Amino acid sequence: MLVVLKKDYDDVSREAARIVAGAIRAKPHIVLGLATGSTPQGLYKELIAFYHEGSLDFSRATSFNLDEYLGLAPTHPQSFHYFMEQNLFSSVNLPRERAHVPDGTIAGNYEDYCERYEQSIKSAGGIDLQILGIGRNGHIGFNEPTSSLASRTRLKALSRETIEDNRHVFANESEMPKCAITMGIGTILDSKRVLILAAGRSKAAAVAKAIEGPITSSVSASALQLHPDVTFIIDEEAAYSLTQRDYYRHVLEMTKLFTPERLS
Ligand code: F6R
Repeated sequence: MLVVLKKDYDDVSREAARIVAGAIRAKPHIVLGLATGSTPQGLYKELIAFYHEGSLDFSRATSFNLDEYLGLAPTHPQSFHYFMEQNLFSSVNLPRERAHVPDGTIAGNYEDYCERYEQSIKSAGGIDLQILGIGRNGHIGFNEPTSSLASRTRLKALSRETIEDNRHVFANESEMPKCAITMGIGTILDSKRVLILAAGRSKAAAVAKAIEGPITSSVSASALQLHPDVTFIIDEEAAYSLTQRDYYRHVLEMTKLFTPERLS
């Protein structure tokens, strides 16, 4: 696990964009795992800027989003389909037929739908690079506390904390979806590489538990300790509760010196 400490949100976004753009250039047929939420917005802006200046091409890439609220149509302004359209898809040349977001409008056979989502990821060759944010309760995707560390894509009931964190964007609480379709922790752990971003003091406790705490289903992100290629890119505020900050800086210096390819 690499922990990259950055000054602020803009630096986190720039560093993440440098890594994601490098991965796309190295493998134009890349399969990306994408997240929504406030955290990756800066990263997506940077990627769009690279695309506009002609240094990044998404034409051969494929993407799979982590999650979608149950019951929201793709045109709903709070749906993750809409978010991706506004924040990335409409501004780059990623072919729409290869930009997958779970369907929040399915009714009925959820298991069958989720199994098919898993199969499409496998058929595409698996996720090369998964981008994640982290919830205040340590969730990744919508894998709320006590999610199985082996979970796959499924229908998941949202926790009270997640509902509280997100309901401000809905006109009233009754409109806030109570369930979502989400990739599982097992699905995320199958990705070849994981980039997880966090900024702000509100994430400090979750980040510390994920990086330095025990592996536990009470903090879904702690499962990333089991993954062989995870990079946390976090700002000073999100790093506030980490006890080993100096060591992470030392590791980063040594990585630059001896295995610089790990940072590209
Ligand atoms: C979004 C997702 C969530 C968010 C997390 C943090 O697709 O899966 O796990 O990454 O809730 O959200 P923000 O970035 O809004 O703080």
